[in-house]
Amino acid sequence: MYERLKKFWRNSASYVYAKFVMDDRLKKLLKYGVSYADASEILPPVGIPSNFFDKTYLSDQSWWKEKAQAWWLEEPEWEELLRRDQAPIPDRENREGYFAKHHLAFWISGYRDYRKTIAAVEPYGIRGGRFFDFGGSTGRVFRHFEFQSDQWDVWSSDFKLSSVGWNQTHYPNSIKVFLNNSNPSLPLPDSYFDLVSAFSVFTHINETETAWLLELRRILKVGGIAYITIHDEATWLNMVPMIKNKVEKFRPDIADLVELPEGKTVVTFRDDDPYNCHVFHGRQYIENVWGRFFEICEIKSLNHDQQAVVICRRPD
Ligand SMILES: C[S@@+](CC[C@H](N)C(=O)[O-])C[C@H]1O[C@@H](n2cnc3c(N)ncnc32)[C@H](O)[C@@H]1O
Repeated sequence: MYERLKKFWRNSASYVYAKFVMDDRLKKLLKYGVSYADASEILPPVGIPSNFFDKTYLSDQSWWKEKAQAWWLEEPEWEELLRRDQAPIPDRENREGYFAKHHLAFWISGYRDYRKTIAAVEPYGIRGGRFFDFGGSTGRVFRHFEFQSDQWDVWSSDFKLSSVGWNQTHYPNSIKVFLNNSNPSLPLPDSYFDLVSAFSVFTHINETETAWLLELRRILKVGGIAYITIHDEATWLNMVPMIKNKVEKFRPDIADLVELPEGKTVVTFRDDDPYNCHVFHGRQYIENVWGRFFEICEIKSLNHDQQAVVICRRPD
């Protein structure tokens, strides 16, 4: 009798344990089937880039004073760049909060990232063709591939409804924009793109990371490049206050560490949405995990402000 009671108790305990664990996992996985549940509205744009251009602005704003940005002061062709891009600039609510009220800084930061990207992929033989900006939001970067060059056929997707709606409303039809869901699948053909980018996207993807990498590999042509930014060891050492606060609040166990822990470090800050974490990747992790699917050509720290870029080539 005692043995039977013990067995019954053991089975019930493991059932209760399994039920709670499974419930949590199931809930999380189900959320991966939906678009980003953020309730943002589509707000009127703030103007077009030339509305905010003022040469003194460039030297007055703190962003331009930082040494890393100094080369902008020498950009000779401002008027020409602005003439080519007459599309509106999104309200900060529709651009992931980037650059608060500094609308021109938002536009120029995208131009800078566009220029850095084309310069970095050129040595790998990528000079034009089809370009896909995964998690492209409202075009901080991809708009420059469209307006500042005639070498690219520009595509972008995001899982945030309002961003894709904004793009459909305000960009010309030549830019192909669509909503993807949180499950790693893209309605795009195999071997289609020369260049794929993901700026500050894998910094927010945890469980589905490798499946998304495989999707990006699938849509790239052989020899094509995936240009993906991450938080690496140098980001950890130069952490901006906004992320530092999240680490202190949600991962107090690691907040005081001087060095980034090995492997992948995840700081989950909510659980009601698939957009729910900050992710840090150690270089060794990138080689071990991403290197199974791509040739890891370069990892450049602090290349896009505090983020590193991983230049990945599709091998076959
Ligand atoms: C920090 S923002 C960066 C936006 C843009 N790439 C840029 O650099 O301006 C992260 C973007 O990734 C998108 N995102 C995150 N996970 C995604 C996923 N699994 N599928 C599509 N978009 C995703 C978010 O909706 C958001 O627009």
